[in-house]
Amino acid sequence: MSDDPIPGALRLQAGVCTSFGSPFNGGMLQHMAGDYEAGGPVRQLLSPWAGVGARQLFDEAVPLRLINAFNHLALSGEAAELTAAYPAPDRPADPDAAWPIARAAIGPHLEHLAAFMGHEPQTNEVRRAGCLLGGFLTVAAETGLPLRTFELGASAGLNLYWDRFHYRLGEAEWGDPASPVEIPVDWTGPLPPLGAEVQVVERHACDRRPTDLADPAQRRRLIACIWPDQFDRLARSRAAIDLALARGVQVDAADALAWTRERVAPRSGTATVLYHSIFWQYLPAETRAGLEAAIQDIGARASASAPFAWLRMEPPMDNLAVVELRLTLWPSGEDRRLALVHPHGATVAWEADQE
Ligand SMILES: C[S@@+](CC[C@H](N)C(=O)[O-])C[C@H]1O[C@@H](n2cnc3c(N)ncnc32)[C@H](O)[C@@H]1O
Repeated sequence: MSDDPIPGALRLQAGVCTSFGSPFNGGMLQHMAGDYEAGGPVRQLLSPWAGVGARQLFDEAVPLRLINAFNHLALSGEAAELTAAYPAPDRPADPDAAWPIARAAIGPHLEHLAAFMGHEPQTNEVRRAGCLLGGFLTVAAETGLPLRTFELGASAGLNLYWDRFHYRLGEAEWGDPASPVEIPVDWTGPLPPLGAEVQVVERHACDRRPTDLADPAQRRRLIACIWPDQFDRLARSRAAIDLALARGVQVDAADALAWTRERVAPRSGTATVLYHSIFWQYLPAETRAGLEAAIQDIGARASASAPFAWLRMEPPMDNLAVVELRLTLWPSGEDRRLALVHPHGATVAWEADQE
């Protein structure tokens, strides 16, 4: 038996895609794993990772780079047959029919596919705002202050305007019903303090490689990271892109550690909130340690009139299979888990009591 980890990594990602609502990508990845094992053209696309270990394949999100590259090619219109074989709202997703067409497209479009795979996928998942919302509301309710928000690893910045979305949390709702961005969340457990007064007076964000939404090529790259048979996700992202562009979204191109040290500090009369989602696991261990120290240092400078919150939607580093929403709020520095959540924000199991 071969000890090459690539086919196993592709099949693992296939299972994740299928169980997270993309049977099309799941089926395509199964075909890709088989093609790789049979020495087909997928092997050439993955040649930059020949001989690397399973951990590196995971860290560099190689299966996602591969599957998203085909979506990018289909979206580009450069391979008309592939575009026609990809899912559309009026056409059932059929990976068995699409795969031979995708395979035949590899040769003529090798450069396009390889170029896309040259850097990590940069998703920006709008529905994660439905998880973060409860944390922002908790900070607003407990401090009674306007919020200054700072997002790390914000990608295109689609979640900077979380307070302009409309949320459906099971039977409850929050936000402007006229918002073009609708966030449905399958909610269990108590509700967060929906009546808290929320006013965002400043919003800032950084990413080491921000997606510039004004650039059509970068916008397409972002869209290509959304699984092609998830039409609701696609529509939500497009609406959030329009909203962010209309508001003149700005994401600083910066490393999170340097940016946090330079930009984030408590300010009197406001609650300063540092937040991030599905970002922490991508940091090298020394950056994580540096950020934790910087955050503790900011917390130590907080006071009742200038509180500081660290809100994060992340898997614990010793168990990447679950995602938690956690909040640490200074000056007390109390740390708590608010909820267990779905990695894309589809479900929230709220734990914190709001009495
Ligand atoms: C998986 S994406 C998540 C994006 C967004 N937070 C979301 O939930 O949709 C992770 C993001 O972290 C960014 N990132 C990774 N390391 C970083 C660093 N050291 N400093 C700033 N951004 C970083 C990546 O560029 C990428 O945009």
